[in-house]
Amino acid sequence: MSSTTRSTPTAPIPLSSKPAGQANPDTKTACIRTFGCQMNVHDSDRIRRMIQDAGYAEVQRYEDADLVILNTCYVRENAVDRVKGHLGELNRLRREGRVKRVALTGCIGAAEESATLQQTYDIDLVLGTHNTYELAEFVGLPTMLETYTPELPGTEGGHNAFVTIMTGCNYQCSYCIVPTVRGRMLCRPMGSVIAEVERLVAGGTGYVTLLGQTVDAWRHEGKRFCDLLEAVSESTPRVWFTTSHPSNMEDRTLRAIGERDTIVKRLHLPVQSGSDRMLRVMHRGYKAERYRRKIEVFREAAPDGTLTTDIIVGHPGETEEDHEQTLKLVEDCAFDSAYIFKFSPRRGTEAASLPGAVPDAVVQRRFLEVLRQIERNAFERNQRKVGGVEEIYIRHGSTEDGKAIGETWSGHAVHVKTGVAPGNYVKARIESAGPHVLYAGEPSG
Ligand code: 5AD
Ligand code: SF4
Repeated sequence: MSSTTRSTPTAPIPLSSKPAGQANPDTKTACIRTFGCQMNVHDSDRIRRMIQDAGYAEVQRYEDADLVILNTCYVRENAVDRVKGHLGELNRLRREGRVKRVALTGCIGAAEESATLQQTYDIDLVLGTHNTYELAEFVGLPTMLETYTPELPGTEGGHNAFVTIMTGCNYQCSYCIVPTVRGRMLCRPMGSVIAEVERLVAGGTGYVTLLGQTVDAWRHEGKRFCDLLEAVSESTPRVWFTTSHPSNMEDRTLRAIGERDTIVKRLHLPVQSGSDRMLRVMHRGYKAERYRRKIEVFREAAPDGTLTTDIIVGHPGETEEDHEQTLKLVEDCAFDSAYIFKFSPRRGTEAASLPGAVPDAVVQRRFLEVLRQIERNAFERNQRKVGGVEEIYIRHGSTEDGKAIGETWSGHAVHVKTGVAPGNYVKARIESAGPHVLYAGEPSG
């Protein structure tokens, strides 16, 4: 059993709309591997733009690549273990003369541990999250700080596009390494965000996702997140945003989700724990009751909408009573899905040196109890969708079995029998539902 689970996976996000070409033997080739969150997926897209500008062809297999770029995640130890596995494999390919150079970017690159990894695995270049632009020089382009910054659109420009509105995080959650590796919050000016959205939409993008570690903390020159969301919702046919923080989430944003036709009615609001005591230890800045009230406002604003969350089990000091309170909150909020994480100590965070480690077997049991509760709620809620006709946005085209992956306006992931291309809408009846996904029949038109 993995320590991370999502009881309702959304459609996978493709790294690029560009097909992986068969490289000409004279062309330099590069392979990009992305680990972690959507911020990393988006950063990889900018990296892709750099390597393309430098004349590299992108390939999908390490053995076909002159240069391999690992864009990494540091948020939990298993993310680091995965990267170490890849680095070991790359060392072997390098000894065989297949891969020439390896670069490591992203959150591991920004952590102290990267120096040891660089030595152990003989990595050619290590970059953090603030100096990714230096990769430009490494691949033979002039280093232009102002060119390869968050303002730079990636290559995607396809049907679904990410737009970063803020980077970093001003919170100091006990367990979290993000503020260390991503730095303090930096908000992008509204004009720059709107200009990018308008450019993307003019280029054919039909679905914009606003990104940030605490996206709802965005503020700039007297404007707050809800102002930005409303402005974006007027410039694009479809918009969603992630990740939010309960302390920043305003009721008017929750109401705007319900009222505005172009906003997908899905809220990802990480709660982490249902126990006030644990929330205090974690420095989350809210109590469970305040979280519940936010959810009430959301459910009232968008009764049909989907609510997802993040939960950590086994944080140091978590008692059976704390765990019971998490189960109670899960029951009360009836999440449509959740990412459940087993606590993973990160060197440099407060929680890594806190007493009261929870034994592995207890963590595992609590993990399964939360998972079962989430799945039970999600299954029940999904059953209510059966029989209804939904307008479905096609995110990914059909696979060999003729099923495309789409999303309803309520934010449910749907498998639908259609050959319609991504970026289009179809209307279809929901025929059945599992805890993770809805299944629709053939579109009616
Ligand atoms: N251990 C377990 N889960 C963590 N997360 C962040 N840091 C840790 C950690 N040290 C989880 C939180 C966060 C999500 C992105 O990852 O739930 O919301
Ligand atoms: Fe990490 Fe907390 Fe910031 Fe989220 S709000 S990125 S969990 S420190």
